[in-house]
Amino acid sequence: MKISENYSLLKHNTFGLDIKTRWFVEYENEEDLQKLLYDEYFFSQPFIHIGQGSNLLFLGDYSGIVVHSLIQGIEVVKEEENHVWIKAGAGVEWDSFVAYCAEKGWGGIENLSGIPGEVGASAVQNIGAYGVEVCDTITEVHTYNIVTGEKQIFKNEDCKFTYRHSIFKEETHRGKHFVTHVIYKLSKQPVYNLDYGYLKTVLDGKDVNLKTIREAVISIRDAKLPDPKKLGNAGSFFMNPYICMAHYEGLKEKYPDIPSYPVDGKVVKIPAAWLIEQCGLKGKTIGHAAIHEKQPLVIINKGEATADDIASLASLVCDEVKKKFSIELQKEVLFI
Ligand code: EPU
Repeated sequence: MKISENYSLLKHNTFGLDIKTRWFVEYENEEDLQKLLYDEYFFSQPFIHIGQGSNLLFLGDYSGIVVHSLIQGIEVVKEEENHVWIKAGAGVEWDSFVAYCAEKGWGGIENLSGIPGEVGASAVQNIGAYGVEVCDTITEVHTYNIVTGEKQIFKNEDCKFTYRHSIFKEETHRGKHFVTHVIYKLSKQPVYNLDYGYLKTVLDGKDVNLKTIREAVISIRDAKLPDPKKLGNAGSFFMNPYICMAHYEGLKEKYPDIPSYPVDGKVVKIPAAWLIEQCGLKGKTIGHAAIHEKQPLVIINKGEATADDIASLASLVCDEVKKKFSIELQKEVLFI
C-alpha cells in the first residue's frame, strides 16, 4: 500500500489542476484493500475513490483521503468456441486493456478505444462511444462493500446499466463499493459495429478488423477531442439530454435541423454539443477555461484555469441551454 501525505493530484485529474489531498492511498491487491477497510482512522475521515481522474473536478484541496486502486492483471477466466471471458483488475488502464483484447482478436470493446480512464471506472460510468456501451460486454463487477467489508459480485443485470449510468452512481451504492475487478465477455468471432456513420466513412476502402477499427476510432477522437495530456479536460462535460416527444416536436418546429436519436416512442436524445453550439458558446472563455471549438461538450483548461473558472463556465452553459431550449443539461463530470 502506498500512502502519501499532502499529495498533489496533478497527475490524477485530467483537468490538470494542482489540487492537494490530505492523504493519498493506493492499494495494490485485495489484501491491502481489506486492511484499509478495517482501519479506524480511514473511516473517521471523508474519503473518495478515484480512477484516473478523467471525470472529476476537484473544486479545492481535499481534506480527507483520496483512494486509488493499483490492482492489475488481465486473465481469461472462461473460454468457449465463440466467446472468451476476461477478468481485468480495476487499476488496469482502459485503453491498454482495449489494445490487448484487439491484439488477441477478442471483439466487443474496440469502438471504445482511446477513452482515458481505468477498468474499474469503465463499469461505474458505463462508458460509451461510437455506437457501443461497455455494459453490453460486462458480465460481472466484483467489489468490496465498504460498509460490511465483504466481497460482493454484481451480475450485469444487478448493475442497472443505462446511458452513462450504473447502480454504483446511485445514492444507495455511491461511495459504498470499491470495484476490484470487472469481467467482460468478448467475442472470438466479432461482429463489427459500424453504426456510427463517420466510422464507416473513415474505414471506407480499408480492411475492417479489430485493429483498423481501433485505429479509425483513435483518429476520429484525435480530430475532435483534445488530448488531456496536452490540454486539460474531462471529455464530455455534459450528458446528452433525453427529452419527451412533445418537447421535441415543439423544438423541431422552431429548429427544423435539430439532430435527435430516438430512444423509444416517448423519449428522444438530443446531442448536447448541438444545443451548446446553437447558444453561440463554442470557444466561450471564462478565466482560463474554454468551450472546445471542435467539440463543445468538452471544457478545456487553457493552461492556468482554476476549478472556479471551469465550474462557472459549466454553469453558464447550463443556464444558456435552459433559457433557449428549456432543457436541463446534466453534468457528467463529478464535482468534489
Ligand atoms: N454536434 C454539433 N456541433 C459540434 C459537434 C457535434 O452540433 O461541434 C452535434 C452533431 O449533430 C453531431 C452530434 O452533435 O452529429 C453528435 O456529436 P458526436 O458524434 O461528436 O457525439 P456526442 O454525442 O457529442 C458522444 C459521447 C462522446 C463519444 C461520442 C462518439 C456523450 C456525453 N458523449 O458525444 O463521449 O465519444 O458520442 O460516440 O454521450 C466522453 O464521454 O467523454 C465522450 C467524449
